[in-house]
Amino acid sequence: MKPGNPIILALDVPGYDEAVEIVKKFSGHIEVFKVGSGLFTSSGPKIIKQIHLMGRKVFLDLKFHDIPNTVAASAAAAARLGVFMFNVHALGGSGMMRQAAEAIRKTSLDENIDRPKLIGVTILTSIDQNALRDELGIGLRMGAEVRHLAGLAYNAGLDGVVASPEDAENIRSHFGKDFLIVTPGIRPSWAAADDQKRMLAPREALRRGADYIVLGRAVLSQPDPLKALERIKEEISGLQR
Ligand code: C5P
Repeated sequence: MKPGNPIILALDVPGYDEAVEIVKKFSGHIEVFKVGSGLFTSSGPKIIKQIHLMGRKVFLDLKFHDIPNTVAASAAAAARLGVFMFNVHALGGSGMMRQAAEAIRKTSLDENIDRPKLIGVTILTSIDQNALRDELGIGLRMGAEVRHLAGLAYNAGLDGVVASPEDAENIRSHFGKDFLIVTPGIRPSWAAADDQKRMLAPREALRRGADYIVLGRAVLSQPDPLKALERIKEEISGLQR
């Protein structure tokens, strides 16, 4: 099912105080805030608890990638934090993803907490076709590699994937309507690309099948971030269910 508000705002700020300010400012407009590795490393679980106290949900974007046993422990810890969604790198392999999925299922049941959604990162949106081949040494074309990794995630029992909006149609057509697609790499025509390589405008990403679009600098680096968000909401209106 499509979310009511498909926008996830990335709290890509250095510390706790700045993050809380943003959540305060945007909480009337945003339901899910993304806590990434920078903010989590500086602030720890405290920021997650605070966002929950403010009545909002957390997408914990730590992209776990390690041996299955270690990732399973991280996954159980994420479930105990009560996050709405978190992720692992699909490149960690099927065994790692399966054990992470099993860890959250078991932890949620045993401790009577809501099971978070677990999604797999396919190929980062900052990696393009050349880097995939020349740096990572992966011979498949980008679309085929992303579909392959999405298939691993699907078969391991994950709820969905993080992928470039350029790959959303491809993933949707293979894995059906219930497989979540979360797309960073979102840039309205009026925002800078920064380090993103495979990106699309918000409306186009949703049109191609994304359930959630992650917005970071396209909102927070604008002179008036609230106005930028309003502008994006207008651009996607009619596509929201
Ligand atoms: O500022 P921008 O909109 O580019 O931010 C995108 C956010 O999404 C960043 O927090 C980044 O870490 C995250 N992300 C990404 N690509 C992925 C997964 C997450 O850009 N594959």
